[in-house]
Amino acid sequence: MNTSLKSRNHAQTKAKNVSGPIKPYGGRLVNRVTDDEALTGETKVLPTIQITPRILADLYMVAVGALSPLEGFMDSATYESVLETMKLTNGLPWSIPVVLPATQQEVAEFHVGDRVALIAPDGTLAAKLDVTEIFEPDFAHEALSVYGTEDAAHPGVAALQTFGPKYVAGSIHYVYANDISGFPADNLTPAETRVRFDEAKWGTVVAFQTRNPIHRAHEYLHKCALEMVEGLLIHPLVGETKPDDLPADIRMESYRTILDLYYPKDRVLLSVLPAAMRYAGPREAIFHAIIRRNYGCTHFIVGRDHAGVGDYYGSYDAQEIFDEIDADLLGIVPLKFEHAFWCTRTGQMASNKTSPSTPEERVFLSGSEVREMLSRGERPPVEFTRPEVADILMKMY
Ligand code: ADX
Repeated sequence: MNTSLKSRNHAQTKAKNVSGPIKPYGGRLVNRVTDDEALTGETKVLPTIQITPRILADLYMVAVGALSPLEGFMDSATYESVLETMKLTNGLPWSIPVVLPATQQEVAEFHVGDRVALIAPDGTLAAKLDVTEIFEPDFAHEALSVYGTEDAAHPGVAALQTFGPKYVAGSIHYVYANDISGFPADNLTPAETRVRFDEAKWGTVVAFQTRNPIHRAHEYLHKCALEMVEGLLIHPLVGETKPDDLPADIRMESYRTILDLYYPKDRVLLSVLPAAMRYAGPREAIFHAIIRRNYGCTHFIVGRDHAGVGDYYGSYDAQEIFDEIDADLLGIVPLKFEHAFWCTRTGQMASNKTSPSTPEERVFLSGSEVREMLSRGERPPVEFTRPEVADILMKMY
């Protein structure tokens, strides 16, 4: 059993009324981390399901309450409801299925009502699950609803094609002994970020999701947001990403460097999100916002092509989708930003909203253009990336 997570779990359980600037989604922070001996033992006699790093990440997220009010993996009614209406069966907005895939051979070994052992990629026990349903998903429907495409070139659709063919529903008891993030010292649980926000006396906190190093455009968004709210949670996703995204350890080095040099220390917290990236664009933006509400954030940055990949989504689809859901129920407020660029006329970061510049006066670079520059040994320009971040990226390439 992971002593630190176990003892932290105790602290969380004792704090009957979870702290922080905003209530968890659904009203209560879920906690499915257990040290119950009856649950940590007896694995050999239980049927098993082998889980992948991606599913382990979801499991962890449910366990620590990042996906509150979920207490386990979705049943077919909830799954259908999420695909069709973007809501849980109780009416709360929810955009992404959280499901447990299993093989035909695995489900042949158990029935509804049984307890099964979920085995982590390292072969150890990750959790036990009380089975409430075994069902057959409609993968084509799921792909179209969540990703807007059935194209196998889409990384989310490709991941889906490795699933199943069955999904198993039920609540979980998390017992995994190892840290899943790769950054144990920077992996605060939702209960812990909430305590930090209280200690810092931040009544409003904006979360920033990212899977990239912090470039000037990101920094501009942060600084604009910090003019409006009291605290900033830099919350990089460090779970599974597509192979050509930058590795998380390089990104973490760049975050620490840039925060140290260019951010006010008493207004920023860096902590990792050990979730897998779905690349579901608009639907993932809502999912990301809900997760950050559980971590205690009141606001959430949604910029250009949030959680996008290729040209599957329009630049502002991930902002417009927030207009389709009940803002009061969602609770966390999206802070929407237009495409930011370096403006040579005004000599600063800007967007269409703030700059009178012509297209020739704007320095735009995409993440993939920067990766191409780096692979040619070229240094990204200062208008795009702080020199200290460029140094780290150049070293890596
Ligand atoms: S993401 O997949 O995590 O969304 P990324 O790390 O590139 O990718 O973006 C993090 C956040 O910054 C997202 O909200 C994204 O929309 C926003 N963003 C990234 N680049 C820009 C830009 N040039 N202008 C405005 N918003 C941006």
